[in-house]
Amino acid sequence: MAVLVTGGAGYIGSATVELLREGDVDVIVLDNLDYGHRDAICDVPFYKGNVGDSDLVKRIVLEHGIESCVHFAAYAYVGESVTDPAKYFANNTVQTNDLLNALIESDVKNIVFSSTCATYGDPQYIPIDEMHPQKPINPYGWSKFMTERILESYDSAYGLKFVTLRYFNAAGATAKCGEHHDPETHLIPNVLRAADGDLPFVSVFGDDYDTPDGTCIRDYIHVADLADAHLRALDHLKGGGDSAHINLGNGLGFSVLEVIEAARKVSGRTIDVKIEPRRTGDPARLIANASKAFEVLGWKPENAGIETIIRSAWDWKKAHPNGYAS
Ligand SMILES: NC(=O)c1ccc[n+]([C@@H]2O[C@H](COP(=O)([O-])OP(=O)(O)OC[C@H]3O[C@@H](n4cnc5c(N)ncnc54)[C@H](O)[C@@H]3O)[C@@H](O)[C@H]2O)c1
Repeated sequence: MAVLVTGGAGYIGSATVELLREGDVDVIVLDNLDYGHRDAICDVPFYKGNVGDSDLVKRIVLEHGIESCVHFAAYAYVGESVTDPAKYFANNTVQTNDLLNALIESDVKNIVFSSTCATYGDPQYIPIDEMHPQKPINPYGWSKFMTERILESYDSAYGLKFVTLRYFNAAGATAKCGEHHDPETHLIPNVLRAADGDLPFVSVFGDDYDTPDGTCIRDYIHVADLADAHLRALDHLKGGGDSAHINLGNGLGFSVLEVIEAARKVSGRTIDVKIEPRRTGDPARLIANASKAFEVLGWKPENAGIETIIRSAWDWKKAHPNGYAS
């Protein structure tokens, strides 16, 4: 079985490619390298291009006998999506629609899609399960929400089978693959940059939320656990399983200050903190109910502890001081 991995040179995509290859699966990566790193996937067959390039997608399917697709490729900066929504709908929704059309025309009808907890919007209850109303509060969330609806329509009309995986906060690293975003907006890599002296301090956006220490609580999921869930989702579809929307998270929440404290412990370094005003649209808590992932995919996180997650990211940072540039 050959699998097309779009966005496979990115953070979560490259970790998934690594695991697929360990399982002797033939993997082909399509990535435009807008944010990805060629070095993240070493000798994996690679095409530099856009997922919306239908001719290229059809050629890859034909040449490599692609049977399924794992679709990571997207832009994922929430703030930018608010100031430049056109960029997000064109890339994340329109290009994904083109990709799906090219796959269906090539008779590829199994797809695993990277969705997001941002499709839920402000939580009405915690932990968030898949039945929670979806009302995104930014264009990034809407761009993924719309793709989910397209997938449902294509299932009904064309028999496309999908698993959408609604991730909470991806974090950590495998031995080979780590997080190298530019710009970096995620908390854990920035906390570790502060620990290493690359940043003077960590900005904490709001310390007056209705949480025990006043800072936002998030559900961090190790990137290796995410990768494992993708392999299980592919197996589910290959075995004739039904289409499904599935949350991926630990079901555990850690506050910003707890993450920083854990990073101090792991790194043995001082990490200075600067309290800044709240950011618009940051809910106090986001925690997943991921029990459906266990019921449908037999998946549960193996690296749930925050120190385990941070240690893996710290080890990767020490081995790659300049990210993939090193
Ligand atoms: N990182 C998280 O915490 C998180 C949480 C929820 C959902 N997600 C989703 O998971 C996916 C992967 O996230 P990531 O953190 O690995 O991001 P990333 O930016 O590291 O990887 C995305 C990759 O897609 C590529 N890409 C973007 N648009 C493309 C296009 N049109 N054609 C070809 N390649 C394109 C980029 O070059 C990049 O390599 C994204 O879809 C994101 O929305 C991520």
